[in-house]
Amino acid sequence: TRKPILAIDGPAGAGKSTVARRVAEQLNLFYLDTGAMYRALTWLVLQSGIAVDDEPAIAELVSQSHIEFKDYESDAQRSKRIFINDRDVTEEIRDVDVTANVSAISAHAIVRKVLVKQQQRYGSSGGIVIEGRDIGTCVFPDAEVKIFLTASVQERARRRQQDLKNQGKGEISLDELEQSIFERDRKDSTRAISPLRKADDAIEIQTDHLSVDEVVGAIVRLYLEKL
Ligand code: C5P
Repeated sequence: TRKPILAIDGPAGAGKSTVARRVAEQLNLFYLDTGAMYRALTWLVLQSGIAVDDEPAIAELVSQSHIEFKDYESDAQRSKRIFINDRDVTEEIRDVDVTANVSAISAHAIVRKVLVKQQQRYGSSGGIVIEGRDIGTCVFPDAEVKIFLTASVQERARRRQQDLKNQGKGEISLDELEQSIFERDRKDSTRAISPLRKADDAIEIQTDHLSVDEVVGAIVRLYLEKL
């Protein structure tokens, strides 16, 4: 039998990656960031000079591309790197132009079909923390634990601004950040195929007034109850 699956969904910038990574570390589970996969493919589309709405060209590109995660160990840290067609794009997939175009790319049926299949293979024996927009509704509708992580747009913009500051990437106005987060959520939740939505049986955690430790602790307890 398969080990329990922990699905974490939610809107942009709700802290899913931070939380999912730490939960996976504490529980010693495999961690899969599905957003990184859509971003890697978006990077490749932009790099290839293909228009984001050119479905046939994108279909062709998807059929010829393969995405891989590799663990990278250095003295200081252990991190996961993402490769598309053997090129390390871990940093590039966070660029503003990838972020601005990823919702358009991830709305294509063919893109979702291929990436969802790969995600299901990763999780086939369970024991995985998998994070995205449609995990509880579509990728693993039978996941044992489903979390829907949210925060107000204002709070998400504020956290994003702090992250950028910490990374020395300068100061972007809260207005601008709120606008881009709002716009990405709008596109992700109104697309035709597996839109961003809370699964009926997901537990919603509103994180505006919670610390990362509190959120991680709560999710770890929910998973342990299923063992
Ligand atoms: O989680 P992250 O912000 O990196 O996701 C980037 C984008 O990838 C989302 O805005 C969405 O368009 C797409 N995505 C998706 N389905 C998922 C994960 C991400 O459509 N399961």
